[in-house]
Amino acid sequence: MCGIVGYTGPRNSVQPIIEGLSRLEYRGYDSAGICLKLGGKLEILKKEGKLDNLRGLLAQTNPTSQVGIGHTRWATHGAVNNDNAHPHGNEEYAVVHNGIIENASVLKKELQAEGWVFKSQTDSEVFLVLLTKFAKTEGSTLKAIARAFNTIHGNSAFVIMEKATDQLYCVKRSAPMVCGINLTNREVFFSSDPFALVGFAPDIFFPQDSVIGRGTITETKAQIEFFELDLTPSTRFRGQANAISIDATTKGHYEHFMLKEIHEQPALMEKLAAWAIKGQGQSVYNGLKGKEPSFFHITACGTAWHAGLVIKNFFEKFNRIRCNVEIASEFRYREPNLKKDEVGLFISQSGETADTLACQELCHEKGLKTFSVVNTEGSTLFRQCDENFLIHAGMEIGVASTKAFTQQVLTGYLMSMGYAGKLMSVDVYQEIKVLSDRVAAICEDAQTIKAIAEKLYQKKGFIFTGRGVYFPIALEGALKLKEIAYVHAEGYAAGELKHGPIALIDDNMVNIALLGPELFDKALSNVEEVKARRGLIFAIGPKGHSELKAVSDMVYELDFNGLPNLATIMVNVVLQLLSYHIALLKGTDIDKPRNLAKSVTVE
Ligand code: AGP
Repeated sequence: MCGIVGYTGPRNSVQPIIEGLSRLEYRGYDSAGICLKLGGKLEILKKEGKLDNLRGLLAQTNPTSQVGIGHTRWATHGAVNNDNAHPHGNEEYAVVHNGIIENASVLKKELQAEGWVFKSQTDSEVFLVLLTKFAKTEGSTLKAIARAFNTIHGNSAFVIMEKATDQLYCVKRSAPMVCGINLTNREVFFSSDPFALVGFAPDIFFPQDSVIGRGTITETKAQIEFFELDLTPSTRFRGQANAISIDATTKGHYEHFMLKEIHEQPALMEKLAAWAIKGQGQSVYNGLKGKEPSFFHITACGTAWHAGLVIKNFFEKFNRIRCNVEIASEFRYREPNLKKDEVGLFISQSGETADTLACQELCHEKGLKTFSVVNTEGSTLFRQCDENFLIHAGMEIGVASTKAFTQQVLTGYLMSMGYAGKLMSVDVYQEIKVLSDRVAAICEDAQTIKAIAEKLYQKKGFIFTGRGVYFPIALEGALKLKEIAYVHAEGYAAGELKHGPIALIDDNMVNIALLGPELFDKALSNVEEVKARRGLIFAIGPKGHSELKAVSDMVYELDFNGLPNLATIMVNVVLQLLSYHIALLKGTDIDKPRNLAKSVTVE
């Protein structure tokens, strides 16, 4: 997904736009661009690659403009190059876009047949051309935006700038958009994420779908107006204070946001437990008692899907609730068998992942209750679900999700304990406290994991294995390594290895074997099968098991005592740090890995 920032106000717009884009770069970093008004004309500067390339371009002329729009791109339509970078503009208008115009190719052919010329291969430019065409007939920018927006299909958000005035416009459909205002400084901001506006706009507004926002600055005040597509004033927006702390925007003393976010986990776990068990969250979780649904359809993508697999174990084991955990991009087109007394549970860090949103809409249409386990309050998923379980992980900037996974699994556990009416039992809080201490100790012991990474980082491939509740952790460990170290890694149920994948084992293939107290002997025999084929074994398992040490090349021993239900999270933190250090040794861009985006708002 792309990042969008717009500014109109008395100061030079370059600073807030570039600062905002730098905070949104985790969303997409194929190219970046900005449109400014210089000498009364719209001037676009854009460059392929990371935001630093655009900064370099700006440093050549240090332009000043009181109005501007900016964009960081995650390419969907059109190659990664300067022409396809945003903004797209002409003499009258400039636009930045996040999302996909599904009927772009049909519209483009029609417009080209009318003589309109396109400079890029993007779908986004179609909106610019439609806007310019309709402005000639509709007589106002507002009307032209409404007509152009009514003509396009698909999930999209736009910010529009015009030569004629210093006003800014925004409009969206199932894509994130936030408007910010600083009444004291007479400034208006538009963005795809409130995070870009932290420290700039104390008040923010979330317009609903098909509502046009218009930002205007006068000598005396700043103003944001909202209009329906028939241009009548709209009340379909929600205002709130911008609650995100400025600390979230910096790495602090950490080299990467990912490392900072790994180290934040012990405190975040305790904070969530205190909120849910002793604080305002009690009503949320205690309210679940005796309200078990007949069936949970759990859908999500990537890391969130792995969290769903762990949560399923809690619901089946402690609540006897039947569950199905599905990859969202498959579930949405599979015509699943859905009944009204069942619940759709959607797990998402960003709350903006297109496939997960489509599954929520499908379940909603079929009359099911929809719940979310989500990190981003105010996100589309948060606003569309009947009940939301916030995971309280704070902003997660590193594209490779870490703390969100931990908080998603913990939130699922708290829901399970809520359904079982066991939330207030001392064991639950105590276990989370023990977990927090164990994870803090692992973070302090990063040097040991770094040393193991030094022995493994040049290996050709990695097979992560786990049994039972550790199978999803094997999947998650493999995903992290793929995402940030660009090495081939697979996660397997340990018992499945001998049905094929074991063919990959040789002395250049690493088996990262996860062994918990449950099914330990079974898991150990799977390690021995790999050892028999001279595979290199790095085992993560309970302290003091001589057999495990004997069969493994390296062992990271953990204390599982006091963690009957949540040891999976502890083991996963070891894998987070292992991936981090292997990526560090490989010199990849850990916070912004190639080809990825923090949340995927396109299919
Ligand atoms: C995880 O590290 C990835 N960023 C990715 O797999 C992610 O989990 C997936 O895209 C789902 O994102 P969401 O939780 O924001 O919906």
